[in-house]
Amino acid sequence: MGSTQGQPSKAEGDAGPSTTVNGLPIREIPGGYGIPVLGAVGDRLAYFWTEGIPNFYENRRKKFNSTVFRMNMIPGPPGFPKNPVVMLLDQKSHKVLLDNDKVEKRDCITGTFVPDLQYFGGYRPTVYLDTSEEKHTLLKGFLFEVLKASRPRIFPEFRKSVSEVFDAWEAGLKKEGKIKFKDELAIAALRFNIKAFLNVDPADPTVEANLGKGVKSTVMTWLAPMFLPIAPAPIPRLLKPVLAPVAELVMHTFPVPFLLVKPKYDQVVKFFRANSKEQLDLAETQFGLNRDEALQNLMFTTCFNSWGGIQILFPNIIKRLASTSPEFQRELREEVRKATGESGGLITPASFSSMPLLQSAVYEVLRMDPPVPSQFGRAREDLIVESHDAAFRVKKGEMLACYLPVIGRDPKIFTSDPQDYNPKRFVGEEGQKLVQYVLWSNGPQTGSPTTTNKQCAGKDFLTTVAQLLVAEVYLRYERIQVDGDNLVALSPPSV
Ligand code: HEM
Repeated sequence: MGSTQGQPSKAEGDAGPSTTVNGLPIREIPGGYGIPVLGAVGDRLAYFWTEGIPNFYENRRKKFNSTVFRMNMIPGPPGFPKNPVVMLLDQKSHKVLLDNDKVEKRDCITGTFVPDLQYFGGYRPTVYLDTSEEKHTLLKGFLFEVLKASRPRIFPEFRKSVSEVFDAWEAGLKKEGKIKFKDELAIAALRFNIKAFLNVDPADPTVEANLGKGVKSTVMTWLAPMFLPIAPAPIPRLLKPVLAPVAELVMHTFPVPFLLVKPKYDQVVKFFRANSKEQLDLAETQFGLNRDEALQNLMFTTCFNSWGGIQILFPNIIKRLASTSPEFQRELREEVRKATGESGGLITPASFSSMPLLQSAVYEVLRMDPPVPSQFGRAREDLIVESHDAAFRVKKGEMLACYLPVIGRDPKIFTSDPQDYNPKRFVGEEGQKLVQYVLWSNGPQTGSPTTTNKQCAGKDFLTTVAQLLVAEVYLRYERIQVDGDNLVALSPPSV
């Protein structure tokens, strides 16, 4: 039997089953799956409606007095495959999910269901591949090359895109007094993302097969339906009693047929095919990949992995920063100004090394609000998983899962105010020791993605653009203020 940290032991002369591992009592995994189908439906209703997340997790953690327990993952039967998982909610047990010798990551990025492969042109994208599959090495290697080629474009293109967003925000604020800020940011992020990876603007009317001004809605129409089964329904509280049953039936009970989104998907394929000749040549000659498979992967990585994550993360960065004190924001601005002083107010890759406050503020958003909250893996063998307080036997083939927003607030690791956004948390020697526990990328923030692990290929790209966003904000403004989803003030520098 494998073990995450140790082997079971028993008292001398004791012929009975082992009772401890590394001094931890071996405990039966609490929780369960209930009656077939009904148990799954019950958990799904609790997850989305009666309890909601994160309460769903917190309630079970308290009820079972354990950070490891059994539950049904969403979406589940009757319209989706069976969904039993062992949930891991602390930093210690979560480690097993990062150990590729212990867990298989085949077809489990979305948990216990996989969207219809027609959404991906019939291929399994890199995120769905296990490290033991040769294709994983080839496709991830190809994506690393795409990322490398994007480097010279990142800083100038980002600045251009974000300046347009700031102009639009300012105009909106002047006219309306407040402005919903997410949309401008999401469209700019998508155009920037495609420019970085493909070197063309998808909205430019002179570009072949361009997606025009509707680029965001076209891409969303292709992407969103495949993930509807695991997405919460955005229904206002008052309307829930009326609309929840409809949303449950439409979104979470059966998959959305691909045919409904095929026209938009075809448009995205046409655009990528027309504009990624250079990348596909590289995939074919350097990695021996089939051009169509490389194309589908490039498309999915650009639009889902990268932009999908960014469009969740960026608004959270803005909200978290706006929640900090005017004094902190002034301090951040001073740091950015100083660090960019020598490069004439331009942010360069070197600037970040003298912005510890900014870096910490970004890591803290990634700790609190990891954009991809859940990860999964199947036990390759019988395992013993250790939490902080107990050890648990897991059988070969069982699916393990985690929920990062709870793990990121593990009070045994983040001992001071784990539930609060503290932008200075990672500053200084003690703060730096905590960086390894920032796990949004399916690996520690101090680790590196490789073709032999499952850490996010775009970890460094993402960290760079997140830091760029904050630096650009504070180069231009002294303070930002947000109320809910509305931006209500952008204070220009007073000096
Ligand atoms: C994998 C998150 C941005 C490409 C992953 C995984 C996570 C993640 C959690 C691991 C999934 C799993 O195996 O369980 C995010 C978030 C992002 C982001 C939250 C933005 C906020 C990017 C970017 C790229 C990218 C910019 C660009 C190349 C990938 C790829 C994989 C991956 C290719 C699969 C890695 C593998 O199979 O080894 N990402 N990611 N991601 N990500 Fe990201």
